[in-house]
Amino acid sequence: MVWRVLTGITTSGTPHLGNYAGAIRPAIAASRQAGVESFYFLADYHALIHAVDPAQVQRSTLEIAAAWLAAGLDPGKVWFYRQSDIPEVLELAWLLACVTGKGLLNRAHAYKAALDRNSAAGAEPDAGVNVGLFLYPVLMAADILLFRANSVPVGRDQIQHIEMARDMAERFNRRYGEHLVLPEAALDASVATLPGLDGRKMSKSYGNSIALFAPAHELRKRIFSIVTDSRTPGEPKPAEGSAVLRLYEAFATAEESTRMRAAFAAGVAWGEAKEILFERIEATVAPMRSRYLSLIADPPRIEALLRDGAARARAIAAPFLGELRRAAGLRGLS
Ligand code: TRP
Repeated sequence: MVWRVLTGITTSGTPHLGNYAGAIRPAIAASRQAGVESFYFLADYHALIHAVDPAQVQRSTLEIAAAWLAAGLDPGKVWFYRQSDIPEVLELAWLLACVTGKGLLNRAHAYKAALDRNSAAGAEPDAGVNVGLFLYPVLMAADILLFRANSVPVGRDQIQHIEMARDMAERFNRRYGEHLVLPEAALDASVATLPGLDGRKMSKSYGNSIALFAPAHELRKRIFSIVTDSRTPGEPKPAEGSAVLRLYEAFATAEESTRMRAAFAAGVAWGEAKEILFERIEATVAPMRSRYLSLIADPPRIEALLRDGAARARAIAAPFLGELRRAAGLRGLS
């Protein structure tokens, strides 16, 4: 039996080094394994939940698609598509919404965090909360269940959403028969979570990220702005908790990492360590960057690839949704 892996990337923002090491690189490696079918899609419906500039949603879709392709994703081997090209996703979301208790969604972390912020600010509980945010877990469950994914690689913050998808699948199956596959969250301990410039997790929302395909001089400038301590050249640098070292290790071989650790113990100057880090990352990124720049200069080419991916995905989704509709009683009369 083939094993189906599926994950979505919200199209808000420009890909950064953390996205590369934490999602793009492991996903592409996984897609090359035998016996695995990979579904990777641009979650542009999810992007609309946060009122972003429409031009930015479009730009981010282009940049993220180009980044995955430049990093080596083979669109002929995987299903690579844009969520909003698959109308079956929204239709399934409704079928799922009708078997999902409102109480389940009340417990979603993102929604609860919005309630907490409002209560702290003395505002109405639901102030500023759109129904899209509330239904976020339903839309995400539809993404997953429509393609009968077995495994969903996600960050820790998304595990609850996978559990909710399982819940919804169970309720659907109990009511209408065994149609939906229960997915599992895949948290890969070997996948790097990169620190950002300030040492916290690299994240667009913290403003501490390093763009994956910034020009080399900008990449260097960002790397040199990583916060370090005041240890002087010659003073040993502790390996524990160093953002410079953790970033380096996410890109280096085991031998390179050993050498860097030795340099830390021997008191390498921060400036020198950052220079080595820059050169290591640049060596990995440079060939991808040139592919990225040529891809991004040719949006019609990416559009054609995504359309093709959507056609192949719909060839799977449409008949399956037909089965689910019939199961739920949306049937022809003859
Ligand atoms: N919510 C995910 C995130 O923010 C993106 C996403 C949307 C997703 N649909 C998905 C991830 C389905 C996995 C499966 O990271």
